Amino acid sequence: VSLKPYNTFRIDANARYWVEISNEEDLRTLLQLSEFIDTPKLILGGGSNVLLRQNFDGLVVKINIQGIDIIREDDNHVYLTAGAGVNWHELVLFCVKRGYAGMENLSLIPGTVGASPMQNIGAYGVELEQVFESLTAIHILTGEKRTFTHVDCAFGYRESVFKRELKGQYIITSVTFQLDKQPTFHTRYGAIQETLTAMGVSEDKLTIKAVSDAVIQIRRSKLPDPAQIGNAGSFFKNPEIPKAQFDTLKTDYPTLPGYPAGDEQVKVPAGWLIEQAGWKGYRSGDAGVHAKQALVLVNYGTATGDEIISLAKQVQQSVQEKFGVSISPEVNIV
Ligand code: FAD
Ligand code: EPU
Repeated sequence: VSLKPYNTFRIDANARYWVEISNEEDLRTLLQLSEFIDTPKLILGGGSNVLLRQNFDGLVVKINIQGIDIIREDDNHVYLTAGAGVNWHELVLFCVKRGYAGMENLSLIPGTVGASPMQNIGAYGVELEQVFESLTAIHILTGEKRTFTHVDCAFGYRESVFKRELKGQYIITSVTFQLDKQPTFHTRYGAIQETLTAMGVSEDKLTIKAVSDAVIQIRRSKLPDPAQIGNAGSFFKNPEIPKAQFDTLKTDYPTLPGYPAGDEQVKVPAGWLIEQAGWKGYRSGDAGVHAKQALVLVNYGTATGDEIISLAKQVQQSVQEKFGVSISPEVNIV
């Protein structure tokens, strides 16, 4: 099976076996089949955060469990459970339309609900963990179903227990969210303020729909649409460096942006470092660095996973040499 239609980087790699799962029962049955127990498995949602290096000699399990259910309400909150295969942005629009607040800043992030806790997706000042209540997952080897609370997930910046200690062990089947009936607006991000002003939305007229629309507009203006150019969003994480190192860099590069990250650390935008190192818009064959957002590596057509990796290594090395800062991948390399 060609995986090209199933990864947004549009890498042409093949999988030995392929199955699409639309309910939990089928998933358990699958995991019990003796012929597949020892077969390596790759769990896929929308394929928007993976880079396939080579053919996958195993079973790809594409999770397509649907359904959005409001499970309870209290004075301040609405709780809803969504199947792991639900498209993330459709869930956001579902909430925005009904006035359930909390996810609007996460509009237009590609992929599925089931993958959203994996790296604690985030954008424009909000992270998934702020609306997360719990999730259910099935253990790949034992078939046992488990509920994970917020604490169990050990969320961090682009991190969770599922990328660390429990990597490759569980399949997430549903996620429960806590939304607010009374919105708290997150509009500190400069780009959001500017866009709202340009849209003619004043502070007293702010709605979650307006915030969602602003985020969508910003994202469309700088992130490549995977339907047109293969990519997986930010290829690297934004590094956190010691404040002392930041201060030294700042004297050499006065325009270097930085955000306090607690414990005498400063988070610096890798996109800025990569641009300053001269990579923005670079292209070698079909592998490139996006011209409007240097943090995004792109496939213009027939780049292979290894060609993207090789470009990523050159970028990492040059940022290390120029700034003494090491940047690490955000994308899951398979
Ligand atoms: P996949 O790529 O299918 O999988 C990602 C990882 O999760 C893999 O390791 C996979 O094995 C695992 N996985 C997937 N589903 C399950 C499951 N049900 N159970 C267990 N494991 C599973 N991310 C952000 O955080 N913020 C952004 O602003 C952002 N912008 C993006 C913009 C673009 C244009 C693109 C292409 C990507 C962007 N991303 C962003 C990355 C991506 O959208 C998210 O990581 C998203 O959550 C991936 O979802 P997916 O279903 O496509 O996951
Ligand atoms: N910048 C540059 N040049 C570039 C890109 C960025 O100078 O080519 C500078 C910008 O001028 C700005 C700063 O870097 O001062 C931050 O840029 P931006 O707001 O575009 O965000 P980012 O840090 O590059 C992060 C996330 C994105 C998320 C946005 C918005 C990571 C790894 N990436 O990008 O997430 O959408 O913030 O909140 O944290 C993703 O994970 O795939 C992703 C797209």
